[in-house]
Amino acid sequence: MTEEPIKPIFRDAEGAVLMLDQTRLPQEETYQRYSTAEGVATGIRDMIIRGAPAIGVAAAMGLALGARAVHAEEPFAPALERLCELMATTRPTAVNLFWAIDRMRAVAAAFDADGDRSVMLDAFDAEADRIRSDDIATNRAIGANGEPLIPQGATVLTHCNTGSLATAGYGTALGVIRSAHRAGKGIRVVADETRPYLQGSRLTAWECLKEGIDVRIIADSAAGHLISRGRIDCAIVGADRIVANGDTANKIGTYQVAVLCHRHGIPFYVAAPMTTVDLSLSDGAAIPIEERSPEEVRGVFGHPVAPAGVAVANPAFDVTPAELIAGIITEVGVARHPYTESLATMMRDDRSSA
Ligand code: MRU
Repeated sequence: MTEEPIKPIFRDAEGAVLMLDQTRLPQEETYQRYSTAEGVATGIRDMIIRGAPAIGVAAAMGLALGARAVHAEEPFAPALERLCELMATTRPTAVNLFWAIDRMRAVAAAFDADGDRSVMLDAFDAEADRIRSDDIATNRAIGANGEPLIPQGATVLTHCNTGSLATAGYGTALGVIRSAHRAGKGIRVVADETRPYLQGSRLTAWECLKEGIDVRIIADSAAGHLISRGRIDCAIVGADRIVANGDTANKIGTYQVAVLCHRHGIPFYVAAPMTTVDLSLSDGAAIPIEERSPEEVRGVFGHPVAPAGVAVANPAFDVTPAELIAGIITEVGVARHPYTESLATMMRDDRSSA
């Protein structure tokens, strides 16, 4: 598999996990190195790495690391369960995290408790690496499936960061944009800055500039004006969890973009891997929404922009109702209304081809 130029996460020869530190971008391109599962969990919680698929890859690599640290005399199953619980408490909304944890649990379940532990530990490493490489291949397929939806010369609005940084490489919504750019469509990107963490202005803009994609950033509050003046042709965003009826959790502020697109009759697409689809929930009301620190809103990366101690609400995600979504672009195809049927069929096909 050919690698992508931006490598948000990988394992080194000792099995330690290296994360491109997304809290320091775009000013600094530095990697944090984690040699324990606890360190990886902190890296996820502190958003050194972020984005639903990338979080899943990190959790799998963290579990592979943690499994090696379980003492030979210690019963493995309860120790692994403690590590899984640790990873599961890092961030609640992106379902890819829980999917990756279950994939690693399944590796352990395939081995005999009295069997050769070193063989199992190698299988853990291999599974974590497979989750990473599969994600890159999946994103390229999402890009190929979504690219035909982007018109020649289109101006595309996006929210948050859904590129290489948010995945193992290439990206989901930004992967579709990347594919359209590489196909020579002469597109332009308008990136919402995405307060409070500024994934749009810091990360999406950085990725677009690296790829040579024409990008301009806007304050989140400028989206309605640009859409109402006909300056946006379509919007495409990623997802942290897509439930059975198509309701989609994504970065806070996504819902208002979808409402604006609907009001002005332009398509609003979601792009995500099937690992983001959670058919166990029937609609979006049950999706857990992460509430993050008030300090993220009282300040901008440590610089105060509000009175000290003022009350804050800081939900990190919102839910866009399925009726506002024109299509859900995945690696197995584009789901259309009614999503309850299209997503269930695609999930069945995906599982039967695995
Ligand atoms: O809080 P974050 O930065 O992890 O949120 C990321 C998003 O909401 C992305 O849009 C989503 O995870 C899709 S990433 C391919």
